[in-house]
Amino acid sequence: MQINFDNKINEIIKILALEAERFGVKIYFIGGLVRDILMGKKPLDIDILVEGDAIQFVQFLGDFVQIKSLHKDFGTIKTQISGIDIDFASTRKEKYPISGCLPVVEKIGCKLEEDLIRRDFTINAIAVRILPTLEYQLIDLYNGCKDIKSGILRVLHKKSYIDDPTRILRGLDFQLRFNFNFCDEDKKIIKEYLKNPNREGLSKDRVVLTLKKLFSSNERALFALEEFYKKKYYKILYDEFYIDVNKFKSSIALFNVEDFGKVCLSYIVEIRKEQAPTLKNRFEIYKYFSNFSDVDLCVYYLKTEDNNAIIYFKELKNVQVYLKGSDLLGMGFTQGKIIGFILDKITEVKLAKNSTVISFEDEVNFVKNTFKL
Ligand code: CTP
Repeated sequence: MQINFDNKINEIIKILALEAERFGVKIYFIGGLVRDILMGKKPLDIDILVEGDAIQFVQFLGDFVQIKSLHKDFGTIKTQISGIDIDFASTRKEKYPISGCLPVVEKIGCKLEEDLIRRDFTINAIAVRILPTLEYQLIDLYNGCKDIKSGILRVLHKKSYIDDPTRILRGLDFQLRFNFNFCDEDKKIIKEYLKNPNREGLSKDRVVLTLKKLFSSNERALFALEEFYKKKYYKILYDEFYIDVNKFKSSIALFNVEDFGKVCLSYIVEIRKEQAPTLKNRFEIYKYFSNFSDVDLCVYYLKTEDNNAIIYFKELKNVQVYLKGSDLLGMGFTQGKIIGFILDKITEVKLAKNSTVISFEDEVNFVKNTFKL
């Protein structure tokens, strides 16, 4: 197998392979990197799998490597070598005591085959052995190459989605990114799982991380959301979930949100059903929404249909008070509650429809005409 890295990376990989031989471990490319190369894409990250203990191997490499962080329990270590980010992982055996929980590592430094079987899809379970001659040996125990060619997503064992339901969402991501499809068998298993998902031990953090990745591209966010809803993937997290895609599109336009991946993510993750509060006037509306980002406003509106969010966005959001407390002290007012009271009054008058208090000078005049020193 041929892999064309640039000279600098080739040089580093050659040294790593020689050192691995000296240390007595085999090293491989694995996962997304191999999949991307086989699909003719430029790999984004360099991940190296060590058939053994990756942390010990990196420590053996000494000054050649700069360690950025390490995760002892998982045997993973992030490094930089001559300015290139390279992540090392130990081969590991895992088990899932409860469906959806974070995996528990049973063994670090297991055989390659045992590491491959813990992975998500056949397309991500292809290893490439790295030799010091820069020859590369493909190890495809689960016909991942065939599945890449046919655009098929297939798990490695029947319990895979039950162990880790985020794989359903990862599958959706690959579906949208690469136009891949779940194989019929997997479609059946997913459908069955979603009928009665066990969320008892579910790692919500892991689901949110996977959703973040799924919604990281604006281009695909709305498709992802539609599929998430139509295929009932929301059942991984909740029994009930509802979206109206047209309403989504119009709200995104209404609040001029550019990052609608963030809207989708926040809409899904924030299960809290917003209760629209009773806001009596424009000042209260202004105060209530003042910490909301445009994404928050859009999500809030989608959940509540509260028109106050639109009033805030269109009429109040950009209202600004120029006078500061220090200016008021300079005008002769004394320190204390009165300062906040006056600043609130200025805000209130500026928020009124067709207010004539606009500039700094208008504010000063308003204060002089309204409050006695
Ligand atoms: N993996 C897994 N189950 C998960 C997440 C990841 O088995 N829930 C494994 C897969 O073998 C995957 C590898 O860990 O290939 C690395 O995962 P990640 O970096 O998240 O994704 P990539 O597959 O590398 O793809 P990309 O970064 O392009 O999305």
